[in-house]
Amino acid sequence: MVCLIISIFFVLFFLAEIVAIFTTDAPFVPIPEETLEKIIENLKLDNNSILYDLGCGDARVLQKMVEKYPNIKSVGIEIAFVPYILARLKTRKNKNIQIKRQNIFSADVSDATHIFVYLYPEVMEKLMPMLEKKCWKGTLVISCDFEDKNRKPTEIIHLDTLAKRGKRLIVYRL
Ligand SMILES: C[S@@+](CC[C@H](N)C(=O)[O-])C[C@H]1O[C@@H](n2cnc3c(N)ncnc32)[C@H](O)[C@@H]1O
Repeated sequence: MVCLIISIFFVLFFLAEIVAIFTTDAPFVPIPEETLEKIIENLKLDNNSILYDLGCGDARVLQKMVEKYPNIKSVGIEIAFVPYILARLKTRKNKNIQIKRQNIFSADVSDATHIFVYLYPEVMEKLMPMLEKKCWKGTLVISCDFEDKNRKPTEIIHLDTLAKRGKRLIVYRL
């Protein structure tokens, strides 16, 4: 009986992931662990920052961030069921991290000082005009690996890593 319940659980988990691949703007492909530390170092955070991760996956970026900045408020927005549940479980003990199951395009990001994204270039092209409308002037948008080809970045930071993904941060100041 226990085996049956566990098997059903795994099948549902797997099906939810398949559905997510076709219904989200980018699949759940998390940042490699070895790059996380370098990303946090380059986010230009201070104790008054409010960080959003739009499409936060399992919230590994926010989790790594609180190791260095335990008092910073952060919000993860995630639409897919499996990564959302993982993010909630992993961050359940940290009151400064809020995880919301939402579409990034309808999320309220108006209090953000920093927005981190690891999405596709075409999603960046759709997202940036929305962020420009919703956020304060001066908010930093930090995109891992992918640029919005319609905008000139404020800065491009090359992360010194051997990982295949998570090699650059493209920074835009709104
Ligand atoms: C490439 S993963 C990045 C995960 C995480 N930010 C990281 O760096 O490890 C992209 C994530 O965005 C989520 N996502 C894609 N489209 C979304 C949308 N419209 N609203 C909310 N989340 C979305 C996916 O489910 C996935 O977990």
